[in-house]
Amino acid sequence: MQIKYCLENYASIACDLLAYPIFEEDAANVASLASLDKTTQKTVNSLLASKEFKPELHKTCMIYRPAGLKTSHLLFVGAGKKSEFTPAKLRDIAGTAVRAARSIFCKKAAFVCPKEQAAGLAARLMTEGAMYANYDADLYKTKDREDRDIEIFMPVFAGRQNVKEIEENIRCGVIVGEAVNFARTLSNEPANILTPAEFAARAMNSAAGVGLDVSVMEKAEMESLGMNALLAVSKGSDQPPKMVVLRTPGALKKGARKPIVAVVGKGITFDSGGISLKPSEKMEEMKSDMSGGAAALGTMLALAKLCPQKPVIGIIPLVENLPSGKATKPGDVVKSYLGKTIEIVNTDAEGRLILADAIAYARTLGATQILDAATLTGACAVALGNINGGMMGTDQKTIDRLRANCRITGEGLWQLPLDDAYSKAIRSEIADMKNVGNRMGGAITAAKFLQEFVEDTPWVHLDIAGMDIDTEGRPFACKGATGFGVRTFVQLLFS
Ligand code: BES
Ligand code: MN
Ligand code: ZN
Repeated sequence: MQIKYCLENYASIACDLLAYPIFEEDAANVASLASLDKTTQKTVNSLLASKEFKPELHKTCMIYRPAGLKTSHLLFVGAGKKSEFTPAKLRDIAGTAVRAARSIFCKKAAFVCPKEQAAGLAARLMTEGAMYANYDADLYKTKDREDRDIEIFMPVFAGRQNVKEIEENIRCGVIVGEAVNFARTLSNEPANILTPAEFAARAMNSAAGVGLDVSVMEKAEMESLGMNALLAVSKGSDQPPKMVVLRTPGALKKGARKPIVAVVGKGITFDSGGISLKPSEKMEEMKSDMSGGAAALGTMLALAKLCPQKPVIGIIPLVENLPSGKATKPGDVVKSYLGKTIEIVNTDAEGRLILADAIAYARTLGATQILDAATLTGACAVALGNINGGMMGTDQKTIDRLRANCRITGEGLWQLPLDDAYSKAIRSEIADMKNVGNRMGGAITAAKFLQEFVEDTPWVHLDIAGMDIDTEGRPFACKGATGFGVRTFVQLLFS
């Protein structure tokens, strides 16, 4: 899809679909829509008077061959209450317009930016939303596959002059949009295709082209380093584990300026639970248990293009969790890379095991700040639903920034507590700790486990279980992987 901004008046834009956002306040005060009403020869006032269309967020109304306009379709897009509007909502309604355009096979779609929105940020977010919406998860369909892709998306900023700013923001929007969709594809890929080796190969191929330093640690090196927590998860699978290590040019420089941020992502390419086998219902969704890793890779690809001199490293431990005669058994004890011992009481609490070694390794690489994303606990999804991911950690300043950024990223995050008293649940009789607590506070005890390996390094943990895939369908996206985490990390680190 090409993005071509447009400074003309919307009436003269020749396209297949022109989307025009309407706020509830404006609908109630038709005088504020006077010029649109005049151009369209009173279509707006009669539509609003009919009460057939209420501009609630994401509600749409399509007008065929509108009077006074050069477009063949006019789409009114509900923008909700002006008083509740956020930059994230602009991204989403741009996406809603693109999905509507796709549904009737339009190729050229324009979207009129509300005049209240600053053109620069709006240009980036509309681009991101259009690219998000133009993505489809039909990776392996051989029939019924229709070419609905929008070819040209035009953000419209009639009468505005800051062309440089608009162009630069569209460039950023394309970079972020591509990174998010790249992460979505990784999460949507089935586990027979996206093995640890295949994920590592895709990381190599994508990272090399953008100037990232990339290496893949093999099983033999993990063994010699003593990464036995990670290796314990891998034992039941015939797929060898891998660990992808990415560095921006800024992180490679000798004496790189601190802080060196490490973005660590859980990369379980399939989570059957291991010997602590999961029930079969919805088990197929566990192909996306590498979504934290996908977010880490997407983030690194975007940062390499946006701010290559910022010192950031990406660490993605990749393992398949399966039962077999060789698999780790409940009660087994392992010594982690950091040296702390773990009693593995439940082999389905595998994410924290691979992250334990990956986080400790990030610190030996010089990380002075750790961010991690992981589809870690069902408990987190139960607590927060699919509206907010869980956020825990020791770096309160970064947690506050991440929370404040939600109104731009559209990726909800909510902080959970991390009192030391929660650690009691993971005390073991035989080892330094066990890998599960009781049923209580499961998202928090998982984070307390990770904290044992973070030690004093400032750290934020995002539990994105429940956020990684959308099973219900949203007006601005296809069902499936969301790419959650890429926008959050890029917004934080690109500044
Ligand atoms: N990958 C799962 C968590 C998960 C559940 C992600 C649902 C997405 C949707 C994780 O490895 C897991 O199995 N966690 C266990 C932990 C338990 C054994 C302490 C869980 O949540 O049941
Ligand atoms: Mn599990
Ligand atoms: Zn898992």
